[in-house]
Amino acid sequence: MVFLSWVISYLIGSISFSYLIAKKIAGIDIRSHGSGNAGATNTLRVLGKGPAIAVLVLDALKGLAAMGITHLLTSGDPTAYALSGLFAIVGHNWPVFFGFRGGKGIATTLGVALGFSPLAFLITVIITVLVIAVTRYVSLGSLVFVTLLPVCLFLLSKDMAFAWVSVALAVFAYVRHYNNIQNLLAGRERKLGEPSQRHL
Ligand code: G3P
Repeated sequence: MVFLSWVISYLIGSISFSYLIAKKIAGIDIRSHGSGNAGATNTLRVLGKGPAIAVLVLDALKGLAAMGITHLLTSGDPTAYALSGLFAIVGHNWPVFFGFRGGKGIATTLGVALGFSPLAFLITVIITVLVIAVTRYVSLGSLVFVTLLPVCLFLLSKDMAFAWVSVALAVFAYVRHYNNIQNLLAGRERKLGEPSQRHL
């Protein structure tokens, strides 16, 4: 049952809502526009607020749904639960349904963080929103979020599996944000609200 729950988690994570929504409302492959990322930030850049909020919420729900199913299938095994969040993010980043070209995992990590600890979620989200509001860099906010999450979970969580899995999630996020980090260091990262034509 544990293995099955992880496969289900990966498959749920593999549903690329940014791809599906962009295809449905604009007839485009989101991965060929803006930053090329299949995620909420690029959906905002290319299609605007409404679709971006839908992608953000649906991608976050993927993480929660995967962990909810795993909780039921494994009678509440905390390690299986934590790892199902990780598998949902693997699915989001490397989706089997979309040629293994997905997103950077941040919205899904938000859902997973909520499933790990509502308090850690709240603290990290507040700080992330502040960082984005001040700097206008979503990628920087994302990196702050995944860096703070393990710190909060090591301090607040009852189960260290949550904290250790969140370390792995941070590593994934740093790998997926390699280009963003290069752009931030070079001063050419897109800011929130900048037109999508820049730095294609
Ligand atoms: O969550 C992804 C965000 O941090 C960066 O997205 O499209 O600007 O590369 P993007």
